Amino acid sequence: MEFVMYWTFLVVLLLLPVFFLRARRPTKQLPPGSMGLPVIGQSLSLLKAMRANTGDEWFKDRIRKYGPISKLSLFGTPSIFLHGQAANKFSYTCDGNKLANNYQNQSAGSLRSIIELSGEDHKRIRAVLVSFLKPEVLKQYIGKLDEEIRHHLDTHWHGKQEVKVGPLMKTLTFNVICSLIFGIERGERRDILVGLFQELIAGVLAVPVNLPFTQFNRSLQASAKIKAIVMDLIREKRVAFEQQGASPHQDLITCLLSMRNEDNSSVLSDEEILDNAKIVMIAGHDTTSILLTFMVRLFANNPSVYEAVSQEQEEIARSKAAGELLTWDDLIKMKHTWRVASETLRMTPPVFCSFRRALTDIEYGGYIIPKGWQVVWALSMTHMDETIFPDPSKFDPKRFEQQVPAPPYSFVAFGGGQRICPGYEFAKIETLAMVHYLVTRFKWKLSCKDDSFSREPMPVFNQGLPIQITPKKSSGAL
Ligand code: HEM
Repeated sequence: MEFVMYWTFLVVLLLLPVFFLRARRPTKQLPPGSMGLPVIGQSLSLLKAMRANTGDEWFKDRIRKYGPISKLSLFGTPSIFLHGQAANKFSYTCDGNKLANNYQNQSAGSLRSIIELSGEDHKRIRAVLVSFLKPEVLKQYIGKLDEEIRHHLDTHWHGKQEVKVGPLMKTLTFNVICSLIFGIERGERRDILVGLFQELIAGVLAVPVNLPFTQFNRSLQASAKIKAIVMDLIREKRVAFEQQGASPHQDLITCLLSMRNEDNSSVLSDEEILDNAKIVMIAGHDTTSILLTFMVRLFANNPSVYEAVSQEQEEIARSKAAGELLTWDDLIKMKHTWRVASETLRMTPPVFCSFRRALTDIEYGGYIIPKGWQVVWALSMTHMDETIFPDPSKFDPKRFEQQVPAPPYSFVAFGGGQRICPGYEFAKIETLAMVHYLVTRFKWKLSCKDDSFSREPMPVFNQGLPIQITPKKSSGAL
Protein backbone atom coordinates (compact mmCIF):
# COMPACT_ATOMS: atom_id res chain seq x y z
CA MET A 1 0.00 0.00 0.00
CA GLU A 2 2.77 2.35 1.03
CA PHE A 3 4.59 1.50 -2.19
CA VAL A 4 1.53 2.48 -4.34
CA MET A 5 1.11 5.77 -2.43
CA TYR A 6 4.80 6.55 -2.82
CA TRP A 7 4.67 6.09 -6.61
CA THR A 8 1.40 7.98 -6.98
CA PHE A 9 2.93 10.87 -5.05
CA LEU A 10 6.09 10.77 -7.20
CA VAL A 11 4.12 10.71 -10.51
CA VAL A 12 1.92 13.64 -9.37
CA LEU A 13 5.03 15.55 -8.35
CA LEU A 14 6.68 14.93 -11.71
CA LEU A 15 3.55 15.88 -13.65
CA LEU A 16 2.91 19.11 -11.72
CA PRO A 17 5.26 21.31 -13.83
CA VAL A 18 3.69 19.89 -17.02
CA PHE A 19 0.24 20.75 -15.65
CA PHE A 20 1.28 24.31 -14.74
CA LEU A 21 2.99 24.86 -18.08
CA ARG A 22 -0.13 23.70 -19.92
CA ALA A 23 -2.28 25.96 -17.73
CA ARG A 24 -0.10 29.00 -18.48
CA ARG A 25 0.11 28.40 -22.21
CA PRO A 26 -2.77 30.19 -23.97
CA THR A 27 -5.13 27.45 -25.07
CA LYS A 28 -7.22 29.76 -27.20
CA GLN A 29 -6.75 30.47 -30.89
CA LEU A 30 -6.47 33.70 -32.81
CA PRO A 31 -9.81 34.73 -34.30
CA PRO A 32 -10.49 34.16 -38.03
CA GLY A 33 -9.53 36.73 -40.65
CA SER A 34 -6.76 37.53 -43.08
CA MET A 35 -3.82 39.79 -42.18
CA GLY A 36 -3.68 41.15 -45.76
CA LEU A 37 -0.46 42.37 -47.37
CA PRO A 38 2.66 42.76 -45.20
CA VAL A 39 2.76 46.14 -43.36
CA ILE A 40 -0.14 47.57 -45.38
CA GLY A 41 -2.62 44.94 -44.22
CA GLN A 42 -6.16 46.29 -44.67
CA SER A 43 -5.23 49.95 -43.96
CA LEU A 44 -5.59 51.29 -47.51
CA SER A 45 -8.85 49.50 -48.11
CA LEU A 46 -10.34 50.86 -44.85
CA LEU A 47 -9.06 54.39 -45.51
CA LYS A 48 -10.54 54.25 -49.01
CA ALA A 49 -13.90 53.14 -47.62
CA MET A 50 -13.82 55.92 -45.01
CA ARG A 51 -13.06 58.51 -47.69
CA ALA A 52 -16.09 57.25 -49.64
CA ASN A 53 -18.13 57.21 -46.42
CA THR A 54 -18.69 53.47 -46.73
CA GLY A 55 -16.68 52.57 -43.64
CA ASP A 56 -19.79 51.12 -41.97
CA GLU A 57 -20.31 48.77 -44.93
CA TRP A 58 -16.64 47.81 -44.79
CA PHE A 59 -17.01 46.65 -41.18
CA LYS A 60 -20.38 44.98 -41.88
CA ASP A 61 -18.70 42.96 -44.65
CA ARG A 62 -16.09 41.78 -42.16
CA ILE A 63 -18.75 40.74 -39.69
CA ARG A 64 -20.63 38.83 -42.43
CA LYS A 65 -17.41 37.09 -43.48
CA TYR A 66 -15.74 36.31 -40.15
CA GLY A 67 -18.28 37.00 -37.38
CA PRO A 68 -18.06 39.55 -34.57
CA ILE A 69 -14.40 38.88 -33.72
CA SER A 70 -11.75 38.83 -36.42
CA LYS A 71 -8.09 39.53 -36.95
CA LEU A 72 -6.63 41.98 -39.45
CA SER A 73 -3.72 44.35 -39.80
CA LEU A 74 -4.27 48.11 -39.54
CA PHE A 75 -1.71 50.93 -39.76
CA GLY A 76 1.21 48.55 -39.46
CA THR A 77 -0.14 46.82 -36.34
CA PRO A 78 -1.72 43.37 -36.02
CA SER A 79 -5.24 44.01 -34.78
CA ILE A 80 -8.39 42.35 -33.49
CA PHE A 81 -11.72 43.83 -34.58
CA LEU A 82 -14.55 43.45 -32.09
CA HIS A 83 -18.25 44.01 -32.66
CA GLY A 84 -21.32 44.07 -30.43
CA GLN A 85 -22.62 45.53 -27.21
CA ALA A 86 -20.76 42.96 -25.05
CA ALA A 87 -17.55 43.67 -26.98
CA ASN A 88 -18.01 47.43 -26.42
CA LYS A 89 -18.46 46.78 -22.72
CA PHE A 90 -15.32 44.65 -22.66
CA SER A 91 -13.21 47.24 -24.51
CA TYR A 92 -14.42 50.22 -22.49
CA THR A 93 -14.24 48.59 -19.08
CA CYS A 94 -11.20 46.30 -19.38
CA ASP A 95 -8.49 47.07 -16.80
CA GLY A 96 -6.31 49.90 -18.19
CA ASN A 97 -3.21 47.93 -17.18
CA LYS A 98 -4.27 45.17 -19.62
CA LEU A 99 -5.88 47.16 -22.42
CA ALA A 100 -4.43 50.66 -22.69
CA ASN A 101 -5.16 53.58 -24.98
CA ASN A 102 -3.22 53.28 -28.20
CA TYR A 103 -2.43 56.89 -28.78
CA GLN A 104 1.02 58.27 -29.42
CA ASN A 105 0.73 61.74 -30.79
CA GLN A 106 4.22 62.55 -31.99
CA SER A 107 3.34 65.78 -33.72
CA ALA A 108 1.49 67.14 -30.69
CA GLY A 109 4.74 66.32 -28.89
CA SER A 110 2.97 65.31 -25.69
CA LEU A 111 3.38 62.27 -23.51
CA ARG A 112 1.68 63.37 -20.32
CA SER A 113 -1.86 63.95 -21.49
CA ILE A 114 -5.01 62.13 -20.45
CA ILE A 115 -5.23 60.14 -23.66
CA GLU A 116 -1.67 58.78 -23.52
CA LEU A 117 -1.69 57.72 -19.87
CA SER A 118 -3.10 54.54 -18.35
CA GLY A 119 -3.95 53.17 -14.91
CA GLU A 120 -3.36 55.42 -11.89
CA ASP A 121 -1.72 58.22 -13.94
CA HIS A 122 -4.75 58.39 -16.19
CA LYS A 123 -7.11 58.45 -13.19
CA ARG A 124 -5.21 61.35 -11.58
CA ILE A 125 -5.29 63.58 -14.68
CA ARG A 126 -8.86 62.60 -15.53
CA ALA A 127 -10.11 63.47 -12.02
CA VAL A 128 -8.66 66.95 -12.41
CA LEU A 129 -10.23 67.52 -15.85
CA VAL A 130 -13.60 66.16 -14.77
CA SER A 131 -13.62 68.47 -11.76
CA PHE A 132 -13.43 71.42 -14.16
CA LEU A 133 -15.84 70.10 -16.81
CA LYS A 134 -18.64 69.21 -14.35
CA PRO A 135 -22.02 71.01 -14.54
CA GLU A 136 -21.54 73.07 -11.34
CA VAL A 137 -18.47 74.73 -12.86
CA LEU A 138 -19.85 74.95 -16.40
CA LYS A 139 -22.93 76.78 -15.07
CA GLN A 140 -20.70 79.78 -14.35
CA TYR A 141 -19.55 79.77 -17.96
CA ILE A 142 -22.91 79.95 -19.72
CA GLY A 143 -22.96 83.77 -19.95
CA LYS A 144 -19.54 83.73 -21.66
CA LEU A 145 -20.64 80.93 -24.00
CA ASP A 146 -23.80 82.84 -24.93
CA GLU A 147 -21.79 85.98 -25.63
CA GLU A 148 -19.29 84.06 -27.84
CA ILE A 149 -22.14 82.54 -29.88
CA ARG A 150 -23.91 85.87 -30.43
CA HIS A 151 -20.65 87.51 -31.45
CA HIS A 152 -19.99 84.66 -33.88
CA LEU A 153 -23.44 84.97 -35.46
CA ASP A 154 -23.20 88.78 -35.68
CA THR A 155 -19.79 88.51 -37.36
CA HIS A 156 -20.24 85.53 -39.68
CA TRP A 157 -23.97 84.95 -40.30
CA HIS A 158 -26.04 88.12 -40.03
CA GLY A 159 -26.17 90.13 -43.23
CA LYS A 160 -24.99 87.12 -45.31
CA GLN A 161 -27.07 85.27 -47.87
CA GLU A 162 -24.88 82.21 -48.03
CA VAL A 163 -22.51 80.65 -45.49
CA LYS A 164 -20.36 77.50 -45.42
CA VAL A 165 -21.46 75.70 -42.29
CA GLY A 166 -18.55 73.23 -41.84
CA PRO A 167 -15.69 75.76 -41.52
CA LEU A 168 -17.84 78.26 -39.60
CA MET A 169 -18.82 75.73 -36.93
CA LYS A 170 -15.16 74.92 -36.51
CA THR A 171 -14.37 78.61 -36.00
CA LEU A 172 -17.12 78.87 -33.40
CA THR A 173 -16.21 75.80 -31.38
CA PHE A 174 -12.52 76.66 -31.54
CA ASN A 175 -13.11 80.16 -30.19
CA VAL A 176 -15.43 78.87 -27.49
CA ILE A 177 -12.98 76.25 -26.27
CA CYS A 178 -10.12 78.74 -26.48
CA SER A 179 -11.87 81.04 -24.06
CA LEU A 180 -12.91 78.13 -21.78
CA ILE A 181 -9.53 76.38 -21.65
CA PHE A 182 -7.07 79.19 -21.99
CA GLY A 183 -9.23 82.10 -20.89
CA ILE A 184 -7.99 83.98 -23.97
CA GLU A 185 -10.37 86.67 -25.07
CA ARG A 186 -10.84 87.74 -28.69
CA GLY A 187 -7.80 89.37 -30.20
CA GLU A 188 -4.45 88.84 -31.86
CA ARG A 189 -3.15 86.15 -29.50
CA ARG A 190 -6.27 84.02 -29.98
CA ASP A 191 -6.10 84.42 -33.77
CA ILE A 192 -2.46 83.31 -33.76
CA LEU A 193 -3.34 80.25 -31.64
CA VAL A 194 -6.21 79.32 -33.99
CA GLY A 195 -3.77 79.20 -36.94
CA LEU A 196 -1.16 77.25 -34.96
CA PHE A 197 -3.69 74.67 -33.78
CA GLN A 198 -4.90 74.16 -37.35
CA GLU A 199 -1.30 73.36 -38.37
CA LEU A 200 -0.86 71.09 -35.37
CA ILE A 201 -4.05 69.12 -36.03
CA ALA A 202 -3.24 68.73 -39.73
CA GLY A 203 -0.03 66.96 -38.66
CA VAL A 204 -1.67 64.54 -36.25
CA LEU A 205 -2.63 62.32 -39.18
CA ALA A 206 0.31 63.21 -41.43
CA VAL A 207 3.03 60.73 -42.35
CA PRO A 208 5.62 61.24 -39.57
CA VAL A 209 8.51 62.39 -41.78
CA ASN A 210 10.29 65.34 -40.24
CA LEU A 211 11.78 67.06 -43.29
CA PRO A 212 11.47 70.74 -44.23
CA PHE A 213 8.18 71.41 -46.11
CA THR A 214 6.41 68.28 -44.84
CA GLN A 215 3.10 68.73 -43.01
CA PHE A 216 4.57 66.80 -40.10
CA ASN A 217 7.43 69.29 -39.85
CA ARG A 218 5.04 72.28 -39.94
CA SER A 219 3.00 70.59 -37.28
CA LEU A 220 6.04 70.16 -35.02
CA GLN A 221 6.95 73.82 -35.49
CA ALA A 222 3.39 74.86 -34.63
CA SER A 223 3.56 72.66 -31.54
CA ALA A 224 6.74 74.45 -30.37
CA LYS A 225 5.14 77.87 -30.90
CA ILE A 226 1.99 76.79 -29.04
CA LYS A 227 4.21 75.65 -26.18
CA ALA A 228 5.91 79.05 -25.95
CA ILE A 229 2.55 80.91 -25.96
CA VAL A 230 0.91 78.57 -23.44
CA MET A 231 3.91 78.60 -21.08
CA ASP A 232 3.72 82.45 -21.06
CA LEU A 233 0.01 82.15 -20.40
CA ILE A 234 0.60 79.74 -17.50
CA ARG A 235 3.00 82.28 -15.93
CA GLU A 236 0.44 85.08 -16.34
CA LYS A 237 -2.38 82.97 -14.91
CA ARG A 238 -0.23 81.95 -11.94
CA VAL A 239 0.41 85.60 -11.06
CA ALA A 240 -3.29 86.45 -11.54
CA PHE A 241 -4.35 83.58 -9.30
CA GLU A 242 -1.70 83.76 -6.58
CA GLN A 243 -1.27 87.53 -6.35
CA GLN A 244 -4.42 89.08 -7.75
CA GLY A 245 -7.04 86.67 -6.38
CA ALA A 246 -8.39 85.45 -9.77
CA SER A 247 -11.16 82.80 -9.49
CA PRO A 248 -9.81 79.24 -9.90
CA HIS A 249 -12.76 78.42 -12.15
CA GLN A 250 -12.31 81.19 -14.68
CA ASP A 251 -10.57 78.84 -17.14
CA LEU A 252 -9.05 75.34 -17.23
CA ILE A 253 -5.45 76.53 -16.85
CA THR A 254 -6.22 78.57 -13.71
CA CYS A 255 -8.23 75.64 -12.36
CA LEU A 256 -5.31 73.24 -12.92
CA LEU A 257 -2.85 75.73 -11.39
CA SER A 258 -5.01 76.10 -8.30
CA MET A 259 -5.01 72.39 -7.46
CA ARG A 260 -2.78 71.41 -4.56
CA ASN A 261 -1.72 68.14 -2.94
CA GLU A 262 -1.91 67.74 0.84
CA ASP A 263 1.66 69.07 1.18
CA ASN A 264 0.65 72.16 -0.89
CA SER A 265 2.68 71.02 -3.91
CA SER A 266 1.06 71.42 -7.36
CA VAL A 267 -1.06 68.46 -8.51
CA LEU A 268 0.11 68.95 -12.11
CA SER A 269 3.42 70.24 -13.45
CA ASP A 270 3.41 73.08 -15.99
CA GLU A 271 4.24 70.54 -18.74
CA GLU A 272 1.28 68.38 -17.75
CA ILE A 273 -0.98 71.46 -17.82
CA LEU A 274 0.33 72.32 -21.29
CA ASP A 275 -0.17 68.79 -22.69
CA ASN A 276 -3.66 68.38 -21.28
CA ALA A 277 -4.83 71.84 -22.33
CA LYS A 278 -3.64 71.01 -25.87
CA ILE A 279 -5.46 67.67 -25.93
CA VAL A 280 -8.69 69.16 -24.61
CA MET A 281 -8.45 71.84 -27.32
CA ILE A 282 -8.07 69.18 -30.03
CA ALA A 283 -10.64 66.71 -28.63
CA GLY A 284 -13.14 69.38 -27.71
CA HIS A 285 -13.69 71.49 -30.78
CA ASP A 286 -13.83 69.28 -33.88
CA THR A 287 -16.35 66.81 -32.45
CA THR A 288 -18.90 69.43 -31.41
CA SER A 289 -18.52 71.38 -34.66
CA ILE A 290 -19.29 68.18 -36.59
CA LEU A 291 -22.42 67.51 -34.53
CA LEU A 292 -23.63 71.07 -35.16
CA THR A 293 -22.91 70.79 -38.90
CA PHE A 294 -24.86 67.52 -39.14
CA MET A 295 -27.77 69.14 -37.29
CA VAL A 296 -27.86 72.05 -39.74
CA ARG A 297 -27.95 69.55 -42.64
CA LEU A 298 -30.68 67.57 -40.89
CA PHE A 299 -32.85 70.68 -40.37
CA ALA A 300 -32.43 71.62 -44.04
CA ASN A 301 -33.43 68.16 -45.25
CA ASN A 302 -36.24 67.56 -42.72
CA PRO A 303 -38.47 70.62 -42.25
CA SER A 304 -40.61 68.81 -39.65
CA VAL A 305 -37.55 68.16 -37.46
CA TYR A 306 -36.60 71.85 -37.81
CA GLU A 307 -40.15 72.94 -36.88
CA ALA A 308 -40.31 70.78 -33.75
CA VAL A 309 -36.92 72.03 -32.50
CA SER A 310 -37.77 75.59 -33.47
CA GLN A 311 -41.03 75.39 -31.51
CA GLU A 312 -39.21 74.32 -28.34
CA GLN A 313 -36.60 77.05 -28.76
CA GLU A 314 -39.08 79.83 -29.65
CA GLU A 315 -40.98 79.07 -26.46
CA ILE A 316 -37.80 79.55 -24.43
CA ALA A 317 -36.95 82.73 -26.37
CA ARG A 318 -40.44 84.12 -25.64
CA SER A 319 -39.92 83.61 -21.91
CA LYS A 320 -36.90 85.93 -21.94
CA ALA A 321 -36.43 89.68 -22.16
CA ALA A 322 -34.79 91.04 -25.32
CA GLY A 323 -31.02 90.48 -25.19
CA GLU A 324 -31.21 88.40 -21.97
CA LEU A 325 -28.55 85.68 -21.80
CA LEU A 326 -29.42 81.99 -21.73
CA THR A 327 -29.30 80.35 -18.31
CA TRP A 328 -28.70 76.79 -17.09
CA ASP A 329 -32.47 76.45 -16.50
CA ASP A 330 -33.14 77.40 -20.14
CA LEU A 331 -30.73 74.69 -21.30
CA ILE A 332 -32.41 72.08 -19.08
CA LYS A 333 -35.71 72.83 -20.83
CA MET A 334 -34.24 71.94 -24.26
CA LYS A 335 -35.05 68.25 -23.89
CA HIS A 336 -36.38 67.65 -27.40
CA THR A 337 -33.42 69.45 -28.99
CA TRP A 338 -31.00 67.19 -27.11
CA ARG A 339 -32.90 64.09 -28.21
CA VAL A 340 -32.54 65.30 -31.81
CA ALA A 341 -28.81 65.85 -31.18
CA SER A 342 -28.48 62.36 -29.65
CA GLU A 343 -30.24 60.74 -32.60
CA THR A 344 -27.91 62.67 -34.92
CA LEU A 345 -24.95 61.29 -32.96
CA ARG A 346 -26.40 57.78 -33.16
CA MET A 347 -26.66 57.89 -36.94
CA THR A 348 -23.42 59.78 -37.59
CA PRO A 349 -21.05 59.60 -34.61
CA PRO A 350 -18.12 62.01 -35.15
CA VAL A 351 -15.68 59.45 -33.70
CA PHE A 352 -15.70 56.49 -36.08
CA CYS A 353 -13.38 53.94 -34.45
CA SER A 354 -11.65 53.52 -31.15
CA PHE A 355 -8.35 51.76 -30.59
CA ARG A 356 -6.64 50.15 -27.62
CA ARG A 357 -3.45 48.10 -27.24
CA ALA A 358 -3.18 44.81 -25.33
CA LEU A 359 -0.44 45.10 -22.69
CA THR A 360 -0.71 41.39 -21.94
CA ASP A 361 -2.29 38.31 -23.58
CA ILE A 362 -6.05 38.65 -23.09
CA GLU A 363 -8.71 36.00 -23.69
CA TYR A 364 -12.00 37.23 -25.10
CA GLY A 365 -14.96 35.45 -26.68
CA GLY A 366 -13.08 32.14 -26.94
CA TYR A 367 -10.07 33.73 -28.69
CA ILE A 368 -6.74 35.18 -27.69
CA ILE A 369 -5.79 38.83 -28.12
CA PRO A 370 -1.98 38.63 -28.03
CA LYS A 371 0.14 41.13 -26.11
CA GLY A 372 1.09 44.12 -28.30
CA TRP A 373 -1.85 43.71 -30.68
CA GLN A 374 -4.33 46.47 -31.28
CA VAL A 375 -8.03 46.19 -30.45
CA VAL A 376 -10.35 48.16 -32.72
CA TRP A 377 -14.11 48.69 -32.78
CA ALA A 378 -16.40 50.93 -34.83
CA LEU A 379 -18.83 53.04 -32.81
CA SER A 380 -21.62 53.06 -35.36
CA MET A 381 -21.86 49.25 -35.49
CA THR A 382 -24.06 48.94 -32.39
CA HIS A 383 -25.81 52.23 -33.26
CA MET A 384 -27.05 50.63 -36.47
CA ASP A 385 -27.81 47.19 -35.00
CA GLU A 386 -31.50 46.55 -35.60
CA THR A 387 -31.78 44.24 -32.61
CA ILE A 388 -30.89 47.24 -30.40
CA PHE A 389 -32.30 50.17 -32.41
CA PRO A 390 -35.21 48.89 -34.54
CA ASP A 391 -35.37 50.35 -38.07
CA PRO A 392 -31.90 51.86 -37.49
CA SER A 393 -31.78 53.94 -40.69
CA LYS A 394 -34.87 55.89 -39.66
CA PHE A 395 -34.24 59.21 -37.91
CA ASP A 396 -36.35 58.97 -34.78
CA PRO A 397 -35.47 61.14 -31.74
CA LYS A 398 -38.23 59.38 -29.76
CA ARG A 399 -35.77 56.53 -29.22
CA PHE A 400 -34.15 58.74 -26.59
CA GLU A 401 -37.36 59.26 -24.62
CA GLN A 402 -38.04 55.56 -24.03
CA GLN A 403 -38.74 54.50 -20.43
CA VAL A 404 -36.35 51.61 -20.96
CA PRO A 405 -33.20 53.05 -22.53
CA ALA A 406 -31.00 51.08 -24.93
CA PRO A 407 -28.73 48.58 -23.13
CA PRO A 408 -25.52 50.07 -21.71
CA TYR A 409 -22.56 50.30 -24.12
CA SER A 410 -24.77 50.21 -27.21
CA PHE A 411 -25.05 54.01 -27.73
CA VAL A 412 -21.40 54.96 -27.49
CA ALA A 413 -21.06 58.27 -29.34
CA PHE A 414 -19.29 59.57 -26.21
CA GLY A 415 -17.48 56.30 -25.52
CA GLY A 416 -17.91 54.47 -22.22
CA GLY A 417 -16.25 53.21 -19.04
CA GLN A 418 -13.18 54.85 -17.56
CA ARG A 419 -12.49 56.87 -20.71
CA ILE A 420 -16.02 58.10 -21.38
CA CYS A 421 -15.88 61.60 -22.83
CA PRO A 422 -15.32 64.08 -19.98
CA GLY A 423 -16.51 66.87 -22.30
CA TYR A 424 -20.06 65.47 -22.62
CA GLU A 425 -21.74 68.21 -20.57
CA PHE A 426 -19.74 70.92 -22.25
CA ALA A 427 -20.56 69.59 -25.74
CA LYS A 428 -24.21 69.45 -24.71
CA ILE A 429 -24.51 73.05 -23.48
CA GLU A 430 -22.55 74.38 -26.45
CA THR A 431 -24.72 72.48 -28.94
CA LEU A 432 -28.00 73.48 -27.27
CA ALA A 433 -27.04 77.16 -27.01
CA MET A 434 -25.91 77.35 -30.65
CA VAL A 435 -29.02 75.53 -31.95
CA HIS A 436 -31.16 77.93 -29.87
CA TYR A 437 -29.74 80.97 -31.64
CA LEU A 438 -29.67 79.32 -35.07
CA VAL A 439 -33.31 78.24 -35.17
CA THR A 440 -34.68 81.35 -33.47
CA ARG A 441 -32.81 83.66 -35.85
CA PHE A 442 -32.62 81.84 -39.20
CA LYS A 443 -34.24 79.57 -41.71
CA TRP A 444 -32.07 77.94 -44.33
CA LYS A 445 -31.83 75.57 -47.27
CA LEU A 446 -28.91 73.73 -48.82
CA SER A 447 -27.15 75.67 -51.60
CA CYS A 448 -26.04 72.61 -53.53
CA LYS A 449 -27.22 69.05 -53.98
CA ASP A 450 -23.92 67.60 -52.78
CA ASP A 451 -24.29 67.30 -49.00
CA SER A 452 -22.01 64.26 -48.87
CA PHE A 453 -19.08 63.85 -46.50
CA SER A 454 -16.00 61.70 -46.18
CA ARG A 455 -14.24 60.52 -43.04
CA GLU A 456 -10.66 61.73 -42.58
CA PRO A 457 -11.15 60.19 -39.95
CA MET A 458 -13.56 62.86 -38.67
CA PRO A 459 -16.42 63.58 -41.08
CA VAL A 460 -15.65 66.43 -43.50
CA PHE A 461 -18.33 67.74 -45.84
CA ASN A 462 -17.04 67.58 -49.38
CA GLN A 463 -18.35 71.07 -50.26
CA GLY A 464 -18.17 72.45 -46.70
CA LEU A 465 -22.02 72.37 -46.57
CA PRO A 466 -22.95 75.75 -48.06
CA ILE A 467 -26.46 76.98 -47.15
CA GLN A 468 -28.62 79.93 -48.11
CA ILE A 469 -29.88 81.69 -45.01
CA THR A 470 -32.86 83.95 -44.39
CA PRO A 471 -33.28 85.85 -41.13
CA LYS A 472 -36.48 85.07 -39.23
CA LYS A 473 -38.75 88.08 -38.79
CA SER A 474 -38.98 87.51 -35.03
CA SER A 475 -35.17 87.42 -34.63
CA GLY A 476 -34.20 89.48 -31.58
CA ALA A 477 -30.80 90.25 -33.08
CA LEU A 478 -32.09 92.13 -36.10
C1 HEM B 1 -20.21 66.02 -29.69
C2 HEM B 1 -19.07 66.18 -29.08
C3 HEM B 1 -18.14 65.08 -28.62
C4 HEM B 1 -18.10 63.75 -28.97
C5 HEM B 1 -19.03 63.01 -29.92
C6 HEM B 1 -16.99 63.16 -28.24
C7 HEM B 1 -16.64 61.81 -28.31
C8 HEM B 1 -15.67 61.23 -27.52
C9 HEM B 1 -15.39 59.81 -27.48
C10 HEM B 1 -16.11 58.73 -28.31
C11 HEM B 1 -14.39 59.60 -26.59
C12 HEM B 1 -13.82 58.27 -26.14
C13 HEM B 1 -12.77 57.75 -27.10
C14 HEM B 1 -12.27 56.36 -26.70
O1 HEM B 1 -12.66 55.81 -25.68
O2 HEM B 1 -11.47 55.83 -27.48
C15 HEM B 1 -14.00 60.91 -26.09
C16 HEM B 1 -12.96 61.12 -25.19
C17 HEM B 1 -12.54 62.38 -24.82
N1 HEM B 1 -13.16 63.59 -25.08
FE1 HEM B 1 -14.83 63.85 -26.17
N2 HEM B 1 -16.38 64.13 -27.50
C18 HEM B 1 -17.05 65.31 -27.69
C19 HEM B 1 -16.76 66.54 -27.10
C20 HEM B 1 -15.72 66.78 -26.25
C21 HEM B 1 -15.44 68.05 -25.62
C22 HEM B 1 -16.28 69.32 -25.81
C23 HEM B 1 -14.30 67.89 -24.87
C24 HEM B 1 -13.58 68.90 -24.01
C25 HEM B 1 -14.09 69.99 -23.51
C26 HEM B 1 -13.87 66.51 -25.04
C27 HEM B 1 -12.74 65.95 -24.46
C28 HEM B 1 -12.44 64.60 -24.49
C29 HEM B 1 -11.27 64.03 -23.82
C30 HEM B 1 -10.20 64.81 -23.05
C31 HEM B 1 -11.34 62.64 -24.03
C32 HEM B 1 -10.32 61.59 -23.54
C33 HEM B 1 -10.83 60.99 -22.22
C34 HEM B 1 -9.94 59.92 -21.62
O3 HEM B 1 -9.12 59.34 -22.34
O4 HEM B 1 -10.12 59.65 -20.42
N3 HEM B 1 -14.76 65.87 -25.87
N4 HEM B 1 -14.81 61.88 -26.65
